[in-house]
Amino acid sequence: MHIVLIGMMGCGKSAVGRKLARKLAWKFKDVDDWIEKEQKTSIAKIFETKGEPFFRDLEKKMIARLAVDDQSVIAAGGGAPCFEENWKRFTKHGFVVWLKAQPKKLLERVMKSPHGKRPLLKDRMTQERISELLKQREPFYSRAHLTIETDDLNTDQVMERIMEMLDSPAKNYWRGNDNL
Ligand code: S3P
Repeated sequence: MHIVLIGMMGCGKSAVGRKLARKLAWKFKDVDDWIEKEQKTSIAKIFETKGEPFFRDLEKKMIARLAVDDQSVIAAGGGAPCFEENWKRFTKHGFVVWLKAQPKKLLERVMKSPHGKRPLLKDRMTQERISELLKQREPFYSRAHLTIETDDLNTDQVMERIMEMLDSPAKNYWRGNDNL
């Protein structure tokens, strides 16, 4: 089994994922980091030089490699859940958690990261742009097995919510989908 963290840019997938993996003594796999390492360049540069469709293709291939049946926490890029192929891979062995946050919070958090790190916000790093993207993506994100409202929680508290779920009987209703 693995846990897949999904949600918008700035929702805390990488920070929570790293901590959770440490706590569980599971592997941590950040899909974007793996792509950057393998391509020897940044996600921003890939968008700039090769375009978004090229990136989405790399992302699909990387997810296919990382979402295998092992004990790991996977942090997916914000757009990954919007592709059916990725979704099937996430849910084959994975329990999917949406770290939900309001656009205002997301903007505050992405503003703290280096400028240009998020190519989809490069020209318009505004609350409106984030709201637009979130609106398009919500139907996909809301298919997650668990949704955590993170606005008033710190990284440790989000991690604890996920740990609680892992210990609770509710988890027994989760089944991977080997038919996928
Ligand atoms: C993207 C989010 C980014 C990265 C790429 C595209 C998106 O990852 O995969 O810039 O489509 O929302 P984070 O969600 O980790 O920032």
